[in-house]
Amino acid sequence: MNKLNRSLLLLMAGVGIGPVAAAVSGAPLQAHVRKQPFGATAEKGPVELYTLANGNGVEISIMTYGGIVVSIKVPDRQGKLGEVTLGYDSLDGYLKNNSPYFGTLVGRYANRIAQGKFSLGGRDYRLAVNSFGSHLHGGNRGFDKVVWQAKEMRTPKGVGLKLQYVSPDGEEGYPGTLSVTVAYTLTNDNELKIDYLATTSKETIVNLTNHAYFNLAGSGDILKHEIMINADRFTPISEAFIPTGELRPVKGTPMDFSKPMAIGARIGQKDEQLIRGNGYDHNFVLNRKDNSLSLAARVEEPTSGRVLEVLTTEPGMQFYTGNFLDGTIKGKGGRVYPQRAGFCLETQHFPDSPNKPNFPSTVLKPGQKYATTTVYKFSTK
Ligand code: GLA
Repeated sequence: MNKLNRSLLLLMAGVGIGPVAAAVSGAPLQAHVRKQPFGATAEKGPVELYTLANGNGVEISIMTYGGIVVSIKVPDRQGKLGEVTLGYDSLDGYLKNNSPYFGTLVGRYANRIAQGKFSLGGRDYRLAVNSFGSHLHGGNRGFDKVVWQAKEMRTPKGVGLKLQYVSPDGEEGYPGTLSVTVAYTLTNDNELKIDYLATTSKETIVNLTNHAYFNLAGSGDILKHEIMINADRFTPISEAFIPTGELRPVKGTPMDFSKPMAIGARIGQKDEQLIRGNGYDHNFVLNRKDNSLSLAARVEEPTSGRVLEVLTTEPGMQFYTGNFLDGTIKGKGGRVYPQRAGFCLETQHFPDSPNKPNFPSTVLKPGQKYATTTVYKFSTK
């Protein structure tokens, strides 16, 4: 990066005295965390925004309300920083609008549970029904709407933010007190690493994810982004967006992204699953040998040259193409988000697993540790 670019970058980033001095002298930028007030919620009081910056100019902002990733700025192939996630400029945006889970931490259960019902240990549980007759993303006041306790982290790999929340027994209808820690790290290799940890006081179900919407071009829709998804099978859905239980091969269908393909290439096809999802809104069964961190997807945006790779320890990933966005949301910088303004790659256990004995289990027992990791890695081509 030349000196001019570096200074511009600093102006945009608005970093503190130390790093500015370092940059002007031509030394590399230092990784740092910046904390600022970000308004308040009526119920839970003040909310803070933490900005993580690494030595390469990448900046990621996360707020304590909903553990929401508010901003992700990464360079394009020319080194120009750009916003690649959807959201609002202020807390009010998230509170006042019916935000479609922009950047949120999702829990206790990511995606849907049919009719909000499940049984565990001989007991029947009832959860809020908040989407097409089913329970979605943890209910009326899921983890996306609570204020998390935050602590800055500095590790040899990068800087981060540790968020903690103790969900009381029975919250949103789920059994057990669930103690949750989510650690966001911005690494020196331009990765946003998310480590999820949870323990419970009673047998329960857990499935945590992040709901960031990406647009690597920073504007327009995402139809020209090219995506590879490392999955030979997906879980087809009913008309109510609930998996039928089948693990269906993607081969010969518009769900086949085993080779990179433009998101928009087949999205309009008269395919039963695309019609039901109103586009892609499906869980992919990731190809994996064990539960180690492995590649789930790779997305390339041809104009900017930005590349996003997703690695996870999870067995599934929801590929959602922002089908419910309809141009009524005015987001960052007053930008109107049209349908398909962003895509989500929500790493997870499969939707409705508590009612699908053939899906990997989402049950967590006292004494056990729920621990998953997902990495969003940014680069250019
Ligand atoms: C997930 C779901 C979608 C939709 C979005 C939020 O991706 O699968 O159906 O509910 O969240 O708008």
